[in-house]
Amino acid sequence: FLHKLVLGIETSCDDTAAAVVDETGNVLGEAIHSQTEVHLKTGGIVPPVAQQLHRENIQRIVQEALSTSKVSPSELSAIATTVKPGLALSLGVGLSFSLQLVDQLKKPFIPIHHMEAHALTIRLLNKVEFPFLVLLISGGHCLLALVRGVSDFLLLGKSLDIAPGDMLDKVARRLSLVKHPECSTMSGGKAIEHLAKQGHKLHFDFKPPMQRAKNCDFSFTGLQHVIDKIITQKEKEEGIFLIGRVGKISNPGLCLKIPVCFAGIQKGQILSSAAHIAAAVQHTTACHIAKRTHRAILFCKQRDLLPQSKAVLVVSGGVASNLYIRKALEIVTNATQCTLLCPPPRLCTDNGIMIAWNGIERLRAGLGILYNTEGVRYEPK
Ligand code: KG4
Ligand code: ZN
Repeated sequence: FLHKLVLGIETSCDDTAAAVVDETGNVLGEAIHSQTEVHLKTGGIVPPVAQQLHRENIQRIVQEALSTSKVSPSELSAIATTVKPGLALSLGVGLSFSLQLVDQLKKPFIPIHHMEAHALTIRLLNKVEFPFLVLLISGGHCLLALVRGVSDFLLLGKSLDIAPGDMLDKVARRLSLVKHPECSTMSGGKAIEHLAKQGHKLHFDFKPPMQRAKNCDFSFTGLQHVIDKIITQKEKEEGIFLIGRVGKISNPGLCLKIPVCFAGIQKGQILSSAAHIAAAVQHTTACHIAKRTHRAILFCKQRDLLPQSKAVLVVSGGVASNLYIRKALEIVTNATQCTLLCPPPRLCTDNGIMIAWNGIERLRAGLGILYNTEGVRYEPK
C-alpha cells in the first residue's frame, strides 16, 4: 500500500464508532452504534450504562469497520483513538480495546484529542488551508478557536457554563418532547428545531446572554433558567403543558391532557406554548452564537490572524445541524466576507471517521506520540 491507512476508534461519549480512512480522505469502512435511544429513556447519559454499552459493542463495531473496508489489519499504518476529553468510563473502553489491538497487531498508536478531530474533519472533504476559524457546538462542547495547524489552536471563546446542545436537551426534557408523537425518537435539539417550525420566535422575548461581555465566551444556563420559570408559570396557567396538534389529540399518549378550551380550537392548530418556547429558545440561541462568532471574526481580522477576505469559518458538532442556527451564522459570514463551511450531519456528530482522519493528519504532520503499551515506540510505515 502506498497510502497511509488509519483505523479510528471513538468512545468518548455515547457513540461507539470506528472507521478506516486513507491518506486522501477516502472512507474505506465505517461502523457506528448509537446509545441515544437508551439515554433518552433515562433523561440523560448514565456513565456506567454508557460504559457497559461501549463494552458490548466495541468489538463488533471495530470488526465491522475493518471488514467493510476490506483492509487487512496488517495493512494499517496506525490506530488512532480518542483519549480526551469525554466521559472517563466511556473513554476507558475505547482506550483499553485499542491498546490491546495495538499490541496484538504491533501498530503505532495515535492518541486523539476529540476537539482537534472535530475541528479538522472539514479538511477530509474540502481543501481548507490553515488558518481557519472553528465553532464547535454540541451537547458537550462549545468553543470558538483559531486553527493555525494540525495541533496548533488558539482558543478564542468557550461556554462559561453548559454547552448549547445540553441546554436544548434540558429544555426539551422539561417540555417532555420525548413523549411528543412527532419527536419521540429525536435528540432534544432536533426536537426543538422541529417544534420551532410550529411556533413564533418572538412570542417569548428572551434576551440573548452576555450582550455586554467584551469577549467571545458563551453562556446558556441563564437562558435555561428563564425558560424553566416560564414553563412552570405556563403549567400553572394551562394546567399541563400541551405539546400536540389537535389532530393527534384523539390518541394523546401520556403527555396530553385535553384543555377546557378545546372546543374552540381548529383541527391542526397548535395548542401549546411549547412550540413558541421552542421557536424562541432556538432564536435566542442562534442570536447568541452568531454574535459571539461575529466578535471572534472581527477580533481575528483586526489582528491579521485570518485573511481579510475569504476567511473560512467551520461550524461543527451536533448543534451545527440546526438549519436556523446555520442561517444566523450565514448572515454573519456574509457580512464579514467569510466562507461558512459545515461538514455533513454524519460528520458533525461524533463518529469514527474524524478520529481516523485526525490520525492521518497527525501522521502527515509528523505529530503524535506513537507507542505500544510497553512504551516501545513504533514508527509508522
Ligand atoms: O456532536 P453530538 O452528537 O454529541 C456531542 O455532544 O458531542 O451532539 C449532540 C447534541 C445534542 O445535545 C443534541 O440535542 C444536539 O446536538 N442536536 C441539535 C440538533 N441535532 C442534534 N441541536 C439543535 N438542532 C439540531 N437539529
Ligand atoms: Zn463530539
